[in-house]
Amino acid sequence: MNRPKIITHMHIAIDGKINGPHLQTEESHKSQREYYNLFLGENAYYNQHKGWLCGTETSAIITGYKKPELDETVTEVPEGDFIAVDDAAMYYFTLDGLGRLGWEKNTFKYFETEAHVVELITEKTSAPFKDMLRRKNISYIIAGEERVDLAVALEKIKAYFDMPELMVNGGGGINWSFMTEGLVDEVSLVITPIADGDANSQPLFAYNEKYNKPTPVAFNLEASQVLDDGSVWLRYQVKK
Ligand SMILES: NC(=O)c1ccc[n+]([C@@H]2O[C@H](COP(=O)([O-])OP(=O)(O)OC[C@H]3O[C@@H](n4cnc5c(N)ncnc54)[C@H](OP(=O)(O)O)[C@@H]3O)[C@@H](O)[C@H]2O)c1
Repeated sequence: MNRPKIITHMHIAIDGKINGPHLQTEESHKSQREYYNLFLGENAYYNQHKGWLCGTETSAIITGYKKPELDETVTEVPEGDFIAVDDAAMYYFTLDGLGRLGWEKNTFKYFETEAHVVELITEKTSAPFKDMLRRKNISYIIAGEERVDLAVALEKIKAYFDMPELMVNGGGGINWSFMTEGLVDEVSLVITPIADGDANSQPLFAYNEKYNKPTPVAFNLEASQVLDDGSVWLRYQVKK
């Protein structure tokens, strides 16, 4: 396989929702810690990866919806990808084809884990945006002409960072894109014993007509376990 093994790892409410009022509860905070421990904790179950990948909307929340500080006079930057840090313990990869994330620094801290930010952009991403990333020492990988080509991005991630596994951790939009493009091998769900009835919140998988459509995908249950906080951890293989 010319790409890392992909594991979609998510914490969800019992109705499959990944955001909403339930995230602010004690039950969710405990479950989020269990979720974190499974892939980034000291004795993490998933330990063959060097990071995780998220969608643009998730990263926009992380960056506080800040606009990138661009120097619009820049018309050219050196060609090709820019790997600013090649020996980080962990990497945070984000889709950002349109170049809209306003990172203030080149790391993102999630609980105790500090990860180096790697932007996944396209041939069309502007020179001022790439210049901003270079000035902040934020890595970028160019994959695709007008939208991020997920398969190419994964091949490059494997080549640059030598990781046998990569976690893909939401949101629902990119989870469904990776799934419908046949790029997910395993789904790992930490189900928090909670619900909030918010019909407008985001589900675990959500089609986006710009990228894909609804279609059934089936899974084989590999393992189930009750975690210390009462959450249930389920691991599924994707039926190809
Ligand atoms: N519970 C959890 O474990 C967990 C984990 C992560 C996130 N979340 C939550 O998930 C929510 C965000 O989910 P989301 O689904 O709205 O956003 P998302 O998946 O984070 O990002 C979706 C956006 O990414 C861009 N994108 C670029 N290439 C894409 C592709 N091939 N397929 C799909 N999107 C692509 C699109 O914007 P453009 O087309 O404009 O580029 C799209 O609108 C947040 O509330 C976050 O807190 C929960």
